Amino acid sequence: MTSTLLRGRTLSFVRWPETIDDHSAWRYEEDGGLLISDGRIVASGAYAQVEEQAGEGAKKIDHRPHLLLPGFVDTHVHFPQMQVIASYGAELLDWLNTYTFPEETKFANAQHGRRIARLFLDEMVRHGTTTVVAYCSVHKASAEAFFAESHDRNMLNIAGKVMMDRNAPEGVLDTPQSGYDDTKALIKEWHGKGRQHYAITPRFAITSSPEQMEMAGALCREHPDLHMQTHLSENHAEIAFTQQLYPWSRDYTDVYEHYGLLGKKSLFGHCIHLSEREADALSQSDSVAVFCPTSNLFLGSGLFDYQRFRHREKPLRIAAATDVGGGTNYSMLRTMDEGYKVIALNGEKLNPFQSFWQITRGNAEALSVVQKIGTLDQGTDADIVVLDARATPAMRLRMETVQTLAQELFLLQTLGDDRAVREVYVAGRAAKSDMAN
Ligand code: GUN
Ligand code: ZN
Repeated sequence: MTSTLLRGRTLSFVRWPETIDDHSAWRYEEDGGLLISDGRIVASGAYAQVEEQAGEGAKKIDHRPHLLLPGFVDTHVHFPQMQVIASYGAELLDWLNTYTFPEETKFANAQHGRRIARLFLDEMVRHGTTTVVAYCSVHKASAEAFFAESHDRNMLNIAGKVMMDRNAPEGVLDTPQSGYDDTKALIKEWHGKGRQHYAITPRFAITSSPEQMEMAGALCREHPDLHMQTHLSENHAEIAFTQQLYPWSRDYTDVYEHYGLLGKKSLFGHCIHLSEREADALSQSDSVAVFCPTSNLFLGSGLFDYQRFRHREKPLRIAAATDVGGGTNYSMLRTMDEGYKVIALNGEKLNPFQSFWQITRGNAEALSVVQKIGTLDQGTDADIVVLDARATPAMRLRMETVQTLAQELFLLQTLGDDRAVREVYVAGRAAKSDMAN
């Protein structure tokens, strides 16, 4: 087995950086090395030391002066919405009915699903994202297409077929029984195969009948190690409709609570308009609130209160995500640029170390997979992104005045996109340059 020795400026996080000067929260090597063998990082640190551990035969790749970070993690994205992104003029429920549901009917065709799954994972890799938590369409074939493509590329991805049995066109509906059976079959076939993880995926309370919600709860009880993903408290009309459909519920979160869907592997997209009771319920159950800034702005949904959620007495676990196709960009850099502005509108700031913590280690912690991804630690999978802060003329010019790592990271976040991603390693394999050839 030949090993690979990467050289560059390495940056990885140990914990949440409290301030911009909280140096012990990260590990930065100006001349760093990563030794990769069999898809894993087997040594990490100062280049001179890592080089000593590398045998004579190691293939050396010099990425200086670029930054090497853990590959980005996108914790909420809809792969069947690549041809929905950039649809004009609607808020959530109209956007779903006008654009999204009709588009997702096309995924009854397995060939269409395979084509979009391939293009989707290409796009993710091009943007430096090495792990996604993906919603597929209602069709079992769409999840099969996604997992087959993901497994071929040896990516660590988490995905599930959406369960939805009402309030949408016939072509995107299952039934409580077929949703359960298809989910069971997909779990059996894909969960734990290579790096694939299954997420139980009731779309949201509006498109699932009480019978289907029961089934989703049963699946979570039968598979307590699996992730569960859904949408929560994104839009005022959505909240009002949910209240009508579940008149007994104390609030939106109570619906999911009632069916046993809260927990430490549960991911709730949006969480914009939560009451204190709802935030407490999420906190007490160790559930994760997913911040989707470009989507929340694009659909006019509202401002996620990141800092309040972090600093309240019962804090929330928070992840960040693109939410394409409600989201408007595949890039986690663009996502955090918009996230920074949303947090600024709430009168707070997110410093650049916190941002890069969030899209690497923070998201991996939120998914409970930090033993495998999200850092450059020895023994973890070699999912790595190589970032070039001089990727465009405007970035190059601005870099002339940059003096600190914090400033460079902020520049990457503010001006960077896929052009700043020089290379991406997926389980040690150079995946971006491979694609270009
Ligand atoms: N709520 C239910 N489905 C969706 C979806 O596809 N996108 C967004 N943004 N919200 C949803
Ligand atoms: Zn979503």
